[in-house]
Amino acid sequence: MESPRYLFYALFSFFLVSFLLFHPTPLSQLINNNNNNAQYSLHLHPLITKFSTHNQQLLAVNEHSTKTNVNGHREVAGKVEEQLAAARASIRGNRSAAHEGGDEGYVPGGAVYRNPRLFYRSYLEMEKILKVYVYRDGDHPIAHDGPCKDIYSIEGRFLHEIEHGHGRFRTNDPNLAHVYFLPFSVAWMVKYLYTPLSYDHSPLRQFVSDYVRLISTKYPFWNSTHGADHFMLACHDWGPSTSKGNPFLYNTSIRVLCNANTSEGFNPQKDVSLPEIHLFGGEVSPKLLSPQNDNNTPRRHLAFFAGGAHGPIRPKLFQYWKNRDHNDNDNDNDNNNDIRVYEYLPKDLDYYSFMLNSKFCLCPSGYEVASPRIVESIYAECVPVILSNNYVLPFSDVLQWEAFSIKVDVSDIPRLKEILSAIPEDEYLRLKEGVKAVRRHFTLNQPVKRFDVFHMILHSIWLRRLNIPLR
Ligand SMILES: *[C@@H]1O[C@H](CO)[C@@H](O)[C@H](O)[C@H]1NC(C)=O
Ligand SMILES: *[C@@H]1O[C@H](CO)[C@@H](O)[C@H](O)[C@H]1NC(C)=O
Ligand SMILES: *[C@@H]1O[C@H](CO)[C@@H](O)[C@H](O)[C@H]1NC(C)=O
Ligand SMILES: *[C@@H]1O[C@H](CO)[C@@H](O)[C@H](O)[C@H]1NC(C)=O
Repeated sequence: MESPRYLFYALFSFFLVSFLLFHPTPLSQLINNNNNNAQYSLHLHPLITKFSTHNQQLLAVNEHSTKTNVNGHREVAGKVEEQLAAARASIRGNRSAAHEGGDEGYVPGGAVYRNPRLFYRSYLEMEKILKVYVYRDGDHPIAHDGPCKDIYSIEGRFLHEIEHGHGRFRTNDPNLAHVYFLPFSVAWMVKYLYTPLSYDHSPLRQFVSDYVRLISTKYPFWNSTHGADHFMLACHDWGPSTSKGNPFLYNTSIRVLCNANTSEGFNPQKDVSLPEIHLFGGEVSPKLLSPQNDNNTPRRHLAFFAGGAHGPIRPKLFQYWKNRDHNDNDNDNDNNNDIRVYEYLPKDLDYYSFMLNSKFCLCPSGYEVASPRIVESIYAECVPVILSNNYVLPFSDVLQWEAFSIKVDVSDIPRLKEILSAIPEDEYLRLKEGVKAVRRHFTLNQPVKRFDVFHMILHSIWLRRLNIPLR
């Protein structure tokens, strides 16, 4: 019964796409012909012009539909602050949270949380009141879209969810919002604005600067807090660098970043560490979706890593462990105690099978601090071993990472086997149970589910906006 409508939409989209692709005017506006990499670079000035023509229409619409004048904003802003104050009081209050939700759903508990009761109350308050306004300004592809595949997929997945998902947390009235989202994708800026091999980030910063100028002249919200209740989200390595396009965005706004490197300006008090989730082809590998219930089958390897010699830490790992602790001809490995470190995994060996058959999975930083291996390890119920410097782990204001991961100092890489072998079996099993317990917080669902990664990201933003610690 649905098929004629699908057919209609499919045909309509096809004509729309063809029109956009082949209609001469937008094409010449969009593509920078002066550039060698014509098909991947967008001219900024036409983009800005596009923004402003688009804006004038929106402004006209806004004047009738919502009251975004400065005085009106102040009045409502007072109410928004009152709501937040009530939420803070309720979170700090001593009422038992277990009965507040009024549903039979998940209740956080156990050692994986720093303070499960506080977290639960804060989460319920978020569900009750949080409203996000997503600016409509800016055009595809750099605004309102992002990658949903491969290493930066969380950019696109979050953006699409907040703009087109079930909408519980979104408001169309910016006067009622607690936080404002700047819906651009740094990964797409790199794809469309960056000249490959130029190492020049200035077109990306210029885009961000223009975007903030646009929304701060058109609406009163940015100026009234210097951007403190605004957030951006980026998984691309250059997220932090791109955010320098506006000094307030960098220093004051909430930046939700995979590259949560404190020596590159990541500020855990206002910024949010975003987990990197590698979706080959847009999906989690079926092997990781339901790891075998193998509590009785011992895992064959002590630890596993495979990946390129990127960044400052991995060369050291290779120096000590690459091809050192095993013999590939010896396939039975009865000692169950080898460390398998590969730079290139031989073609006949399977990456995820290794994760599923190792007790510990090594997660060294690469070119940037975050590693998709952390989330993969959690899916594979392999205890992550964090090898990084200056990395603020995702959701660490709520989660007790010590309860489900091991941190090994980079200087201790030579002692890796000694350290991991010394972990008693019951301690290992406790860590593994912890990994299972936090899996829901790192899971992408469509449609989203309570306490999943989408909600955890929102909750981190919510905490920054409330500006209270949950300890
Ligand atoms: C909550 O309980 C603690 C200790 O039981 C007490 O010190 C504190 O005053 C209480 N707070 C409120 C808001 O009732
Ligand atoms: C916000 O501040 C900027 C810079 O001072 C100014 O140009 C802009 O007009 C202000 N925006 C609004 C809506 O008043
Ligand atoms: C952030 O603030 C500091 C101190 O005021 C300033 O020196 C710096 O330039 C700002 N950062 C950016 C990227 O503008
Ligand atoms: C973190 O930032 C510092 C300072 O820029 C840099 O030297 C270091 O390599 C970064 N760490 C990683 C893993 O990228």
